[in-house]
Amino acid sequence: MRTILCRIFQFFMKLGYYLIPVRTPETITGEGCVLRLAQPLCDRGVTHPLVVTDGGLAKLGLPDGLVESLRVAGLSVTVYDGVQPNPTDADVEEGVRLYREAGCDGMIAFGGGSPMDCAKAIGARIVRPRKPIARLQGLFGVLHRLPPFFAVPTTAGTGSETTLAAVITDSATHHKASINDPSLIPHVAVLDPALTMGLPPSITAATGMDALCHAVEAYTNHTYCTRLENRMAKEAVRLIHQYLLRAYENGSDKEARQQMQRAAFCAGRAFTRGCVGNVHAAGHTLSALYGVAHGQAMATLLPVVLRMYGSKVQRRLAELAQECGFTGTDAEKAEAFICWIEEMNARMQLPSGFAMIKDEDIPQMCRWAQAEANPIYPVPVVWGEKQFRNLFETARKNG
Ligand SMILES: NC(=O)c1ccc[n+]([C@@H]2O[C@H](COP(=O)([O-])OP(=O)(O)OC[C@H]3O[C@@H](n4cnc5c(N)ncnc54)[C@H](O)[C@@H]3O)[C@@H](O)[C@H]2O)c1
Ligand SMILES: [Fe+2]
Repeated sequence: MRTILCRIFQFFMKLGYYLIPVRTPETITGEGCVLRLAQPLCDRGVTHPLVVTDGGLAKLGLPDGLVESLRVAGLSVTVYDGVQPNPTDADVEEGVRLYREAGCDGMIAFGGGSPMDCAKAIGARIVRPRKPIARLQGLFGVLHRLPPFFAVPTTAGTGSETTLAAVITDSATHHKASINDPSLIPHVAVLDPALTMGLPPSITAATGMDALCHAVEAYTNHTYCTRLENRMAKEAVRLIHQYLLRAYENGSDKEARQQMQRAAFCAGRAFTRGCVGNVHAAGHTLSALYGVAHGQAMATLLPVVLRMYGSKVQRRLAELAQECGFTGTDAEKAEAFICWIEEMNARMQLPSGFAMIKDEDIPQMCRWAQAEANPIYPVPVVWGEKQFRNLFETARKNG
Protein backbone atom coordinates (compact mmCIF):
# COMPACT_ATOMS: atom_id res chain seq x y z
CA MET A 1 0.00 0.00 0.00
CA ARG A 2 2.84 2.38 0.90
CA THR A 3 4.46 1.75 -2.48
CA ILE A 4 1.22 2.40 -4.36
CA LEU A 5 0.61 5.70 -2.55
CA CYS A 6 4.19 6.83 -3.15
CA ARG A 7 3.99 5.95 -6.83
CA ILE A 8 0.71 7.90 -7.21
CA PHE A 9 2.30 10.93 -5.54
CA GLN A 10 5.34 10.61 -7.81
CA PHE A 11 3.16 10.39 -10.91
CA PHE A 12 1.58 13.76 -10.08
CA MET A 13 4.94 15.17 -9.05
CA LYS A 14 6.33 14.21 -12.45
CA LEU A 15 3.48 16.06 -14.14
CA GLY A 16 4.05 19.04 -11.82
CA TYR A 17 7.71 19.11 -12.78
CA TYR A 18 6.76 20.13 -16.29
CA LEU A 19 5.43 23.37 -14.75
CA ILE A 20 8.35 24.02 -12.38
CA PRO A 21 11.26 25.84 -13.93
CA VAL A 22 14.51 24.07 -13.00
CA ARG A 23 17.13 26.67 -13.81
CA THR A 24 20.76 25.89 -14.48
CA PRO A 25 22.83 28.67 -12.90
CA GLU A 26 25.03 30.86 -15.04
CA THR A 27 28.59 29.57 -14.63
CA ILE A 28 31.90 31.42 -14.40
CA THR A 29 34.78 28.97 -14.79
CA GLY A 30 38.54 28.80 -14.93
CA GLU A 31 41.56 29.07 -12.71
CA GLY A 32 41.57 32.36 -10.78
CA CYS A 33 38.03 33.34 -11.86
CA VAL A 34 37.04 33.84 -8.21
CA LEU A 35 39.15 37.02 -8.23
CA ARG A 36 37.04 38.51 -11.01
CA LEU A 37 33.60 38.64 -9.38
CA ALA A 38 33.34 42.37 -8.72
CA GLN A 39 31.96 43.20 -12.16
CA PRO A 40 29.39 40.37 -12.32
CA LEU A 41 28.22 41.40 -8.82
CA CYS A 42 27.88 45.05 -9.86
CA ASP A 43 26.02 43.95 -13.00
CA ARG A 44 23.44 42.40 -10.68
CA GLY A 45 23.20 45.51 -8.55
CA VAL A 46 25.21 44.21 -5.59
CA THR A 47 27.19 46.82 -3.67
CA HIS A 48 27.60 45.01 -0.34
CA PRO A 49 27.69 41.20 -0.39
CA LEU A 50 27.68 38.95 2.65
CA VAL A 51 30.40 36.32 2.19
CA VAL A 52 29.33 33.14 3.98
CA THR A 53 32.13 30.71 4.81
CA ASP A 54 33.45 28.51 7.62
CA GLY A 55 36.14 28.95 10.27
CA GLY A 56 38.48 26.34 8.78
CA LEU A 57 38.56 28.09 5.42
CA ALA A 58 38.93 31.51 7.07
CA LYS A 59 41.92 30.18 9.04
CA LEU A 60 43.47 28.87 5.81
CA GLY A 61 42.97 32.34 4.30
CA LEU A 62 41.18 30.85 1.27
CA PRO A 63 38.49 33.58 1.02
CA ASP A 64 41.04 36.41 1.47
CA GLY A 65 41.80 36.90 -2.25
CA LEU A 66 38.12 37.16 -3.09
CA VAL A 67 37.38 39.62 -0.27
CA GLU A 68 40.41 41.72 -1.12
CA SER A 69 39.51 41.85 -4.84
CA LEU A 70 35.99 43.06 -4.02
CA ARG A 71 37.21 45.75 -1.63
CA VAL A 72 39.79 46.97 -4.15
CA ALA A 73 36.93 47.26 -6.66
CA GLY A 74 35.07 49.51 -4.22
CA LEU A 75 32.50 47.11 -2.81
CA SER A 76 31.74 46.85 0.91
CA VAL A 77 32.08 43.27 2.17
CA THR A 78 30.85 41.60 5.35
CA VAL A 79 32.24 38.16 6.14
CA TYR A 80 30.38 35.56 8.18
CA ASP A 81 32.74 32.67 8.92
CA GLY A 82 30.83 30.90 11.68
CA VAL A 83 29.22 28.07 9.66
CA GLN A 84 29.77 24.59 11.15
CA PRO A 85 29.93 21.36 9.15
CA ASN A 86 26.29 20.17 8.91
CA PRO A 87 25.00 23.73 9.50
CA THR A 88 22.25 24.38 12.02
CA ASP A 89 19.33 26.79 12.23
CA ALA A 90 21.38 28.74 14.80
CA ASP A 91 24.16 29.25 12.19
CA VAL A 92 21.53 30.51 9.77
CA GLU A 93 20.04 32.99 12.24
CA GLU A 94 23.48 34.43 13.00
CA GLY A 95 24.00 35.00 9.26
CA VAL A 96 20.58 36.63 8.93
CA ARG A 97 21.44 39.00 11.79
CA LEU A 98 24.74 40.01 10.16
CA TYR A 99 23.10 40.45 6.73
CA ARG A 100 20.50 42.83 8.17
CA GLU A 101 22.84 44.74 10.48
CA ALA A 102 25.36 45.38 7.71
CA GLY A 103 22.68 46.25 5.15
CA CYS A 104 23.86 43.63 2.64
CA ASP A 105 22.21 43.35 -0.77
CA GLY A 106 23.57 40.04 -2.07
CA MET A 107 25.40 36.90 -1.03
CA ILE A 108 28.48 34.93 -1.90
CA ALA A 109 28.57 31.40 -0.50
CA PHE A 110 32.21 30.34 -0.29
CA GLY A 111 33.08 26.80 0.78
CA GLY A 112 31.77 23.27 0.72
CA GLY A 113 28.14 22.23 1.02
CA SER A 114 27.92 23.53 4.57
CA PRO A 115 28.54 27.25 3.85
CA MET A 116 26.62 27.02 0.56
CA ASP A 117 23.56 25.49 2.24
CA CYS A 118 23.76 27.91 5.15
CA ALA A 119 23.90 30.86 2.74
CA LYS A 120 20.88 29.55 0.84
CA ALA A 121 18.94 29.27 4.09
CA ILE A 122 20.02 32.79 5.10
CA GLY A 123 18.67 34.02 1.76
CA ALA A 124 15.43 32.13 2.31
CA ARG A 125 14.98 33.67 5.76
CA ILE A 126 15.71 37.15 4.35
CA VAL A 127 12.91 36.87 1.79
CA ARG A 128 10.62 34.93 4.14
CA PRO A 129 11.24 36.71 7.47
CA ARG A 130 8.16 35.30 9.19
CA LYS A 131 8.91 31.65 8.43
CA PRO A 132 11.37 29.86 10.73
CA ILE A 133 13.66 27.21 9.22
CA ALA A 134 11.43 24.34 10.32
CA ARG A 135 8.58 25.76 8.23
CA LEU A 136 10.79 26.39 5.22
CA GLN A 137 11.92 22.76 5.19
CA GLY A 138 10.18 20.38 2.81
CA LEU A 139 8.96 21.26 -0.66
CA PHE A 140 8.29 24.78 -1.98
CA GLY A 141 8.41 26.59 1.35
CA VAL A 142 10.23 29.63 -0.10
CA LEU A 143 8.85 30.49 -3.57
CA HIS A 144 10.32 34.02 -3.43
CA ARG A 145 13.29 35.31 -5.40
CA LEU A 146 16.47 35.35 -3.30
CA PRO A 147 18.83 38.37 -3.32
CA PRO A 148 21.59 37.94 -5.96
CA PHE A 149 23.35 34.75 -4.95
CA PHE A 150 26.80 33.59 -6.09
CA ALA A 151 28.01 30.12 -5.05
CA VAL A 152 31.73 29.36 -4.96
CA PRO A 153 32.37 25.68 -4.16
CA THR A 154 35.72 24.78 -2.57
CA THR A 155 34.96 21.05 -2.44
CA ALA A 156 33.95 18.97 -5.46
CA GLY A 157 31.01 17.02 -4.10
CA THR A 158 27.69 18.40 -2.98
CA GLY A 159 26.85 20.26 -6.17
CA SER A 160 24.99 22.73 -3.94
CA GLU A 161 26.17 25.43 -6.38
CA THR A 162 23.50 24.19 -8.79
CA THR A 163 20.89 22.42 -6.64
CA LEU A 164 17.58 23.57 -5.21
CA ALA A 165 18.36 22.09 -1.78
CA ALA A 166 19.73 23.43 1.49
CA VAL A 167 20.24 20.84 4.21
CA ILE A 168 19.93 22.30 7.72
CA THR A 169 20.06 20.56 11.10
CA ASP A 170 17.72 21.54 13.94
CA SER A 171 20.03 22.44 16.83
CA ALA A 172 17.52 21.26 19.44
CA THR A 173 16.39 17.91 18.00
CA HIS A 174 19.43 17.16 15.74
CA HIS A 175 16.98 16.42 12.94
CA LYS A 176 18.62 17.15 9.59
CA ALA A 177 16.22 18.10 6.79
CA SER A 178 16.22 19.82 3.41
CA ILE A 179 14.61 22.99 2.20
CA ASN A 180 13.79 22.12 -1.42
CA ASP A 181 12.78 25.04 -3.55
CA PRO A 182 13.71 26.23 -7.04
CA SER A 183 14.36 29.74 -5.65
CA LEU A 184 17.39 28.28 -3.84
CA ILE A 185 19.19 27.48 -7.10
CA PRO A 186 22.11 29.96 -7.09
CA HIS A 187 22.08 32.64 -9.76
CA VAL A 188 25.78 32.19 -10.53
CA ALA A 189 28.08 29.19 -9.88
CA VAL A 190 31.78 30.03 -9.81
CA LEU A 191 33.94 27.01 -10.64
CA ASP A 192 37.56 27.83 -9.88
CA PRO A 193 39.64 24.64 -9.66
CA ALA A 194 42.45 26.48 -7.84
CA LEU A 195 40.21 26.57 -4.76
CA THR A 196 40.09 22.78 -4.49
CA MET A 197 43.82 22.16 -4.95
CA GLY A 198 44.49 22.24 -1.21
CA LEU A 199 41.68 19.87 -0.26
CA PRO A 200 43.10 17.12 1.99
CA PRO A 201 42.81 13.60 0.50
CA SER A 202 40.20 12.46 3.04
CA ILE A 203 37.84 15.34 2.09
CA THR A 204 38.57 14.84 -1.63
CA ALA A 205 37.52 11.20 -1.20
CA ALA A 206 34.36 11.77 0.82
CA THR A 207 33.07 14.71 -1.24
CA GLY A 208 33.88 12.96 -4.54
CA MET A 209 31.90 9.91 -3.47
CA ASP A 210 29.03 12.19 -2.46
CA ALA A 211 28.95 13.47 -6.05
CA LEU A 212 28.96 9.87 -7.29
CA CYS A 213 26.05 9.11 -5.00
CA HIS A 214 24.06 12.05 -6.42
CA ALA A 215 24.58 10.85 -9.97
CA VAL A 216 23.81 7.20 -9.19
CA GLU A 217 20.71 7.96 -7.10
CA ALA A 218 19.32 10.41 -9.69
CA TYR A 219 19.96 7.94 -12.53
CA THR A 220 18.53 4.89 -10.79
CA ASN A 221 15.49 6.90 -9.60
CA HIS A 222 14.96 8.02 -13.24
CA THR A 223 11.20 8.83 -12.92
CA TYR A 224 11.60 12.64 -12.88
CA CYS A 225 14.71 12.72 -15.10
CA THR A 226 14.58 14.25 -18.55
CA ARG A 227 17.22 13.59 -21.16
CA LEU A 228 19.29 16.42 -19.66
CA GLU A 229 19.44 14.85 -16.17
CA ASN A 230 20.25 11.41 -17.60
CA ARG A 231 23.06 12.91 -19.64
CA MET A 232 24.39 14.92 -16.68
CA ALA A 233 24.34 11.85 -14.40
CA LYS A 234 26.23 9.75 -16.96
CA GLU A 235 28.81 12.47 -17.53
CA ALA A 236 29.36 12.81 -13.78
CA VAL A 237 29.86 9.05 -13.33
CA ARG A 238 32.28 8.88 -16.25
CA LEU A 239 34.34 11.81 -14.93
CA ILE A 240 34.42 10.46 -11.37
CA HIS A 241 35.53 7.06 -12.64
CA GLN A 242 38.33 8.72 -14.59
CA TYR A 243 39.48 11.48 -12.22
CA LEU A 244 38.56 10.96 -8.55
CA LEU A 245 41.41 8.61 -7.72
CA ARG A 246 43.83 10.90 -9.56
CA ALA A 247 42.67 13.91 -7.50
CA TYR A 248 42.90 11.82 -4.33
CA GLU A 249 46.41 10.56 -5.04
CA ASN A 250 47.78 13.86 -6.30
CA GLY A 251 45.90 16.89 -5.01
CA SER A 252 47.75 19.26 -7.29
CA ASP A 253 46.67 17.44 -10.46
CA LYS A 254 44.94 20.45 -12.02
CA GLU A 255 43.10 18.54 -14.72
CA ALA A 256 41.70 16.05 -12.20
CA ARG A 257 40.56 18.87 -9.89
CA GLN A 258 38.88 20.71 -12.75
CA GLN A 259 37.10 17.61 -14.01
CA MET A 260 35.93 16.68 -10.50
CA GLN A 261 34.47 20.16 -10.15
CA ARG A 262 32.60 19.62 -13.40
CA ALA A 263 31.47 16.17 -12.20
CA ALA A 264 30.07 17.57 -8.95
CA PHE A 265 28.22 20.27 -10.88
CA CYS A 266 26.72 17.74 -13.34
CA ALA A 267 25.71 15.37 -10.54
CA GLY A 268 24.12 18.26 -8.63
CA ARG A 269 22.19 19.30 -11.72
CA ALA A 270 21.08 15.70 -12.28
CA PHE A 271 19.62 15.26 -8.81
CA THR A 272 18.05 18.73 -8.68
CA ARG A 273 15.28 17.23 -10.76
CA GLY A 274 16.03 13.50 -10.51
CA CYS A 275 16.23 13.58 -6.68
CA VAL A 276 18.50 11.66 -4.37
CA GLY A 277 17.20 8.51 -2.70
CA ASN A 278 17.38 6.13 0.22
CA VAL A 279 21.17 6.50 0.60
CA HIS A 280 20.77 10.20 1.35
CA ALA A 281 17.66 9.68 3.48
CA ALA A 282 19.53 7.16 5.66
CA GLY A 283 22.89 8.95 5.56
CA HIS A 284 21.48 12.26 6.82
CA THR A 285 20.51 10.55 10.08
CA LEU A 286 24.12 9.42 10.63
CA SER A 287 25.42 12.98 10.19
CA ALA A 288 22.68 14.40 12.41
CA LEU A 289 23.10 11.98 15.31
CA TYR A 290 26.77 11.03 15.20
CA GLY A 291 28.39 13.86 13.21
CA VAL A 292 29.51 11.52 10.39
CA ALA A 293 30.80 13.60 7.44
CA HIS A 294 28.10 13.65 4.76
CA GLY A 295 30.28 12.18 2.02
CA GLN A 296 31.55 9.38 4.26
CA ALA A 297 27.99 8.36 5.06
CA MET A 298 27.13 8.36 1.35
CA ALA A 299 30.22 6.42 0.25
CA THR A 300 29.70 3.67 2.79
CA LEU A 301 25.96 3.23 2.41
CA LEU A 302 25.81 3.46 -1.40
CA PRO A 303 27.04 -0.05 -2.29
CA VAL A 304 25.00 -1.62 0.53
CA VAL A 305 21.81 0.04 -0.70
CA LEU A 306 22.51 -0.88 -4.34
CA ARG A 307 22.97 -4.54 -3.35
CA MET A 308 19.71 -4.44 -1.39
CA TYR A 309 17.88 -3.12 -4.49
CA GLY A 310 19.17 -6.13 -6.47
CA SER A 311 17.64 -6.71 -9.89
CA LYS A 312 15.49 -3.54 -9.69
CA VAL A 313 18.51 -1.38 -10.55
CA GLN A 314 20.46 -3.81 -12.69
CA ARG A 315 19.72 -2.28 -16.08
CA ARG A 316 20.29 1.33 -15.02
CA LEU A 317 23.53 0.40 -13.20
CA ALA A 318 24.68 -1.52 -16.27
CA GLU A 319 24.18 1.66 -18.33
CA LEU A 320 26.32 3.64 -15.90
CA ALA A 321 28.91 0.85 -15.86
CA GLN A 322 29.08 1.03 -19.62
CA GLU A 323 29.98 4.74 -19.38
CA CYS A 324 33.00 3.65 -17.34
CA GLY A 325 34.02 1.05 -19.89
CA PHE A 326 32.82 -2.10 -18.10
CA THR A 327 31.64 -4.89 -20.39
CA GLY A 328 29.56 -8.08 -20.11
CA THR A 329 25.90 -8.85 -19.51
CA ASP A 330 23.76 -6.37 -17.59
CA ALA A 331 24.13 -8.45 -14.44
CA GLU A 332 27.92 -8.58 -14.82
CA LYS A 333 28.23 -4.87 -15.53
CA ALA A 334 26.00 -3.92 -12.57
CA GLU A 335 28.02 -6.17 -10.26
CA ALA A 336 31.31 -4.76 -11.57
CA PHE A 337 30.00 -1.24 -10.95
CA ILE A 338 29.13 -1.98 -7.32
CA CYS A 339 32.50 -3.71 -6.82
CA TRP A 340 34.23 -0.63 -8.25
CA ILE A 341 32.47 1.59 -5.66
CA GLU A 342 33.61 -0.79 -2.88
CA GLU A 343 37.17 -0.77 -4.21
CA MET A 344 37.19 3.04 -4.36
CA ASN A 345 36.03 3.20 -0.74
CA ALA A 346 38.76 0.79 0.32
CA ARG A 347 41.53 2.50 -1.67
CA MET A 348 40.57 5.93 -0.32
CA GLN A 349 40.26 4.64 3.25
CA LEU A 350 36.62 5.52 3.63
CA PRO A 351 34.80 3.75 6.49
CA SER A 352 33.49 0.24 5.87
CA GLY A 353 30.64 0.73 8.37
CA PHE A 354 29.47 2.64 11.42
CA ALA A 355 29.93 0.74 14.68
CA MET A 356 28.65 3.74 16.68
CA ILE A 357 25.01 3.23 15.64
CA LYS A 358 23.04 2.66 18.86
CA ASP A 359 20.19 0.20 18.98
CA GLU A 360 17.94 2.67 20.78
CA ASP A 361 18.49 5.29 18.02
CA ILE A 362 17.45 3.02 15.16
CA PRO A 363 13.64 3.53 15.44
CA GLN A 364 14.08 7.31 15.26
CA MET A 365 16.56 6.99 12.38
CA CYS A 366 14.08 4.82 10.48
CA ARG A 367 11.31 7.39 11.03
CA TRP A 368 13.49 10.27 9.82
CA ALA A 369 14.74 8.33 6.80
CA GLN A 370 11.22 7.32 5.77
CA ALA A 371 9.94 10.87 6.25
CA GLU A 372 12.68 12.17 3.98
CA ALA A 373 12.40 9.60 1.22
CA ASN A 374 8.67 8.92 1.05
CA PRO A 375 6.75 9.90 -0.95
CA ILE A 376 8.96 12.49 -2.72
CA TYR A 377 12.03 10.51 -3.85
CA PRO A 378 11.14 8.21 -6.77
CA VAL A 379 13.43 5.48 -5.41
CA PRO A 380 13.78 2.17 -7.29
CA VAL A 381 12.31 0.32 -4.28
CA VAL A 382 10.12 2.11 -1.72
CA TRP A 383 11.47 1.29 1.74
CA GLY A 384 9.70 1.07 5.07
CA GLU A 385 11.04 0.61 8.59
CA LYS A 386 12.13 -2.98 7.94
CA GLN A 387 14.51 -2.17 5.09
CA PHE A 388 15.99 0.92 6.77
CA ARG A 389 16.54 -1.08 9.98
CA ASN A 390 18.24 -3.78 7.94
CA LEU A 391 20.50 -1.14 6.34
CA PHE A 392 21.47 0.44 9.68
CA GLU A 393 22.15 -2.97 11.25
CA THR A 394 24.31 -3.98 8.27
CA ALA A 395 26.22 -0.69 8.46
CA ARG A 396 26.84 -1.23 12.18
CA LYS A 397 27.99 -4.82 11.65
CA ASN A 398 30.44 -3.69 8.93
CA GLY A 399 31.90 -1.00 11.20
N1 LIG B 1 22.47 21.39 -1.00
C1 LIG B 1 22.71 20.23 -1.53
O1 LIG B 1 22.23 19.96 -2.61
C2 LIG B 1 23.57 19.24 -0.81
C3 LIG B 1 23.92 18.04 -1.41
C4 LIG B 1 24.72 17.15 -0.70
C5 LIG B 1 25.17 17.48 0.55
N2 LIG B 1 24.80 18.66 1.14
C6 LIG B 1 25.24 19.07 2.48
O2 LIG B 1 26.55 19.64 2.38
C7 LIG B 1 27.25 19.44 3.60
C8 LIG B 1 28.59 18.79 3.34
O3 LIG B 1 29.35 19.58 2.49
P1 LIG B 1 30.85 19.17 2.09
O4 LIG B 1 30.93 17.70 1.97
O5 LIG B 1 31.24 19.99 0.92
O6 LIG B 1 31.69 19.55 3.38
P2 LIG B 1 31.77 20.85 4.30
O7 LIG B 1 31.30 22.07 3.60
O8 LIG B 1 31.11 20.52 5.59
O9 LIG B 1 33.35 20.95 4.51
C9 LIG B 1 34.05 19.92 5.16
C10 LIG B 1 35.40 20.43 5.65
O10 LIG B 1 36.23 20.71 4.54
C11 LIG B 1 36.88 21.94 4.71
N3 LIG B 1 37.18 22.47 3.38
C12 LIG B 1 36.30 22.86 2.43
N4 LIG B 1 36.97 23.25 1.31
C13 LIG B 1 38.29 23.14 1.57
C14 LIG B 1 39.47 23.40 0.83
N5 LIG B 1 39.42 23.83 -0.44
N6 LIG B 1 40.68 23.18 1.42
C15 LIG B 1 40.73 22.70 2.69
N7 LIG B 1 39.65 22.41 3.46
C16 LIG B 1 38.43 22.64 2.90
C17 LIG B 1 35.89 22.79 5.49
O11 LIG B 1 36.53 23.84 6.18
C18 LIG B 1 35.31 21.74 6.44
O12 LIG B 1 36.10 21.61 7.58
C19 LIG B 1 26.36 18.56 4.47
O13 LIG B 1 25.66 19.36 5.41
C20 LIG B 1 25.39 17.95 3.46
O14 LIG B 1 24.17 17.57 4.04
C21 LIG B 1 24.02 19.54 0.46
FE1 LIG C 1 24.94 14.40 -0.94
